Amino acid sequence: MKPTSSIGRQKKLLCARRNENARLLPHGSFLNNYTPFEKKLRLEEKIKIRPLKSSDSAELAKLANNKRIWDNLRDYIPFPYSESDAKFFINLTIKEAPQQTFGITYKGKLSGVIGLVLQKDVYQKSAEIGYWVGEPFWGNGIATKAVELMTQYGFDKLHLNRIYTGVFEYNTASMKALEKNGYEKEGIFKNAIFKNGQVCDEHRFYKLKEK
Ligand SMILES: CC(C)(COP(=O)(O)OP(=O)(O)OC[C@H]1O[C@@H](n2cnc3c(N)ncnc32)[C@H](O)[C@@H]1OP(=O)(O)O)[C@@H](O)C(=O)NCCC(=O)NCCS
Repeated sequence: MKPTSSIGRQKKLLCARRNENARLLPHGSFLNNYTPFEKKLRLEEKIKIRPLKSSDSAELAKLANNKRIWDNLRDYIPFPYSESDAKFFINLTIKEAPQQTFGITYKGKLSGVIGLVLQKDVYQKSAEIGYWVGEPFWGNGIATKAVELMTQYGFDKLHLNRIYTGVFEYNTASMKALEKNGYEKEGIFKNAIFKNGQVCDEHRFYKLKEK
């Protein structure tokens, strides 16, 4: 037998032993060196916001064309949501100056949209925050991180004093994302919403720029 095949056999044996050892390790144990806080930080680093691009239109339409998203948003947002709706929307955001609408990315992939609607006249230092995350990405802390980034941007770059929003009474996930970012509930607008033929309350949240 050639010496090379003997080496090959030894390598195979070594690999088999390594695999055997790997099987003995608990699942995901390579992450066990991180504390829960470190794991959270590593996940958060993968969530970013960036301006939308024309090339996002197909992905944007695919994510936004979802009744479970639309059920929590205002009626002017189209449903079904087509690629031409996405193109129209992206073109509007590209023209924004200053930029106030962003795509949310998770590990570099478009996963949602977040924006600030700047108010006018005596309300010019206020803006309404709005966002959605595509269903395949739910539950990864994406909305929470995106709200943090957008809020920071609104106060630091757009020099706002106050950011606020209204959440439909059944949208616990959105309320949690706001509360985890220091937004406070300032009241409930009883029966303010008429959506899908049903009346419901609107929970109003706000955050002020820290002095
Ligand atoms: C609401 C929405 C933005 C949340 O996005 P997300 O990336 O899944 O949110 P996060 O992962 O940051 O979760 C925020 C909190 O809500 C919780 N949560 C997530 N989905 C939930 C659900 N269906 N019910 C209750 N709580 C939920 C999370 O566990 C987390 O709380 P925790 O940290 O205490 O565990 C997303 O579901 C969505 O886009 N919905 C449709 C559009 C919408 O509601 N937009 C906001 C309008 S105000």
